[in-house]
Amino acid sequence: MRNTLKLYVMLAALAVPLVAQSGSESKGKYYFKKSCKSCHVAGAAGGEVTPLVKTQNQWKAYFAAGMHKKGAEKLNSLVKPEQVKDIQAFLTAHASDSPQPKTGGG
Ligand code: HEC
Repeated sequence: MRNTLKLYVMLAALAVPLVAQSGSESKGKYYFKKSCKSCHVAGAAGGEVTPLVKTQNQWKAYFAAGMHKKGAEKLNSLVKPEQVKDIQAFLTAHASDSPQPKTGGG
């Protein structure tokens, strides 16, 4: 009995950082709309950006590099690092080769 309880405590301690690290897709959708879309609809300064403009691996590489505007500035300078993670989760979940591709954000 006591060992089972210990196991649950250990699992819970493990699960919390895992979730935090991968970001929230639903929050990401909100932040993408709020902080990115203003410049990224068709005809705007940055051109149209939707989850579909990259594959899952391309988004992964993009966020690993963490740079925006062709390397001119850090993504972290636009939104908080936690929000960057959420936006990554949203964009990757609906990338062109994802199980649920979609234009999103709108
Ligand atoms: C103030 C306007 C502005 C905001 C806000 C903005 N962008 Fe951009 N973005 C740009 C411009 C300008 C470019 C460069 C476009 C070009 O040169 O073709 C760009 C380029 C990009 C690109 C293409 C690759 C690259 O980096 O050059 C992606 C992807 C991108 N932005 C994602 C985002 C995300 C995600 C957010 C929100 C966290 C965001 N942008 C917020 C203006 C903006």
